[in-house]
Amino acid sequence: MKGPNFVNNGITFKGCGSYLPTQVLSNEKISQIVDTSDEWIKTRTGIESRRIAEVDENVSEMGFKAAVSAMAMADWNSESVDLIILATSTPSDLFGSAPMIQSKLRAKNALAFDLTAACSGFLFALITASQYLSSGKYKRALVIGSDQLSSYVDWKDRGSCILFGDGAGALAIEASNDQNNLFGFNLRTDGARGSFLNLYNKKLDGNIVDQIKFRKGEFSNISMNGQEVYKFAVREVPIIISELLKETNFDSEDIDWLILHQANQRILDAVGDRLKINKRKILTNLNKYGNTSAATIPLVLDEFIRNHKIKKNDIILTSGFGAGLSWGAALLKWG
Ligand code: UT7
Repeated sequence: MKGPNFVNNGITFKGCGSYLPTQVLSNEKISQIVDTSDEWIKTRTGIESRRIAEVDENVSEMGFKAAVSAMAMADWNSESVDLIILATSTPSDLFGSAPMIQSKLRAKNALAFDLTAACSGFLFALITASQYLSSGKYKRALVIGSDQLSSYVDWKDRGSCILFGDGAGALAIEASNDQNNLFGFNLRTDGARGSFLNLYNKKLDGNIVDQIKFRKGEFSNISMNGQEVYKFAVREVPIIISELLKETNFDSEDIDWLILHQANQRILDAVGDRLKINKRKILTNLNKYGNTSAATIPLVLDEFIRNHKIKKNDIILTSGFGAGLSWGAALLKWG
């Protein structure tokens, strides 16, 4: 019979993993390079230290290690994975870093590609993967968030260098035809406000021959208007979450855990207050790792699943936000 050869499926969560580089950059050490203090950074952001990748580490390497750990928890063999999406803004290969992860995993049956949406990247990748799985054509996906912002931070800019760190996290998700643990999602972009946070391609010209010039492929440093990004997050995140709760018929009391992109403890507190979500439900590890961009959400998930705080069937509300500007939220049940 002619017609579609697949049906809609739900998705379930099978495993998680993470990787953090071993070099620790404390607030005290940052105070040696810019005019700041441990006290200022802690009170304004909640961050105490962050991890910095070694020179021979990169996004694929970190993402690979996080993926190995997620696959072990899911008890999957490499050949059973059919999709790998890597959320990153700091690729180790501009043509795509996900294929390197696929190759290192020996996941030869997996389609693998990168997705860039800065700090919302993991959430956008999770929703993208869920659409592949719900089509019925793909069964097992690894969704990875891996970023190495230390390569692009302006280490002379005290307004931004204090925030960022490196790391990777991963989730193993599977299609199911009798269960759907992704209850809903909402994703947004507003390019008109993109200038608040960016990592532009430098305008540097080179000459090929005669009068034929080209633009060199070099990137600048992260440039950020901290106050505007702060206001954006505190305003937009509660709105998108409230809309999602309404669409899914959930109340904030139904939520077991809120996992927000780890940007600033004051943002986490303000969003929690606006949504009237009890502080003890807001999970964070920002103090240890800072803002690792696409990696923050899976890093928090992995830490609190492994320490048994998050349990099977817990309801998790998660939201990512950042450059683009981009933001989004998803509501899910672990398991
Ligand atoms: O994934 C999204 C990534 N981006 C973000 O999440 C950024 C969101 N924004 C923020 O987290 C905050 O805006 C920052 C932490 C970046 C800055 O905190 P703030 O409370 O908004 O500080 P501010 O920019 O209003 O600056 C207040 C003062 C200024 O001095 P004056 O003009 O009052 O004398 C700054 O020059 O603090 C000064 N300042 C610092 N002082 C010590 C700015 N950075 C530092 C610093 N140490 N690191």
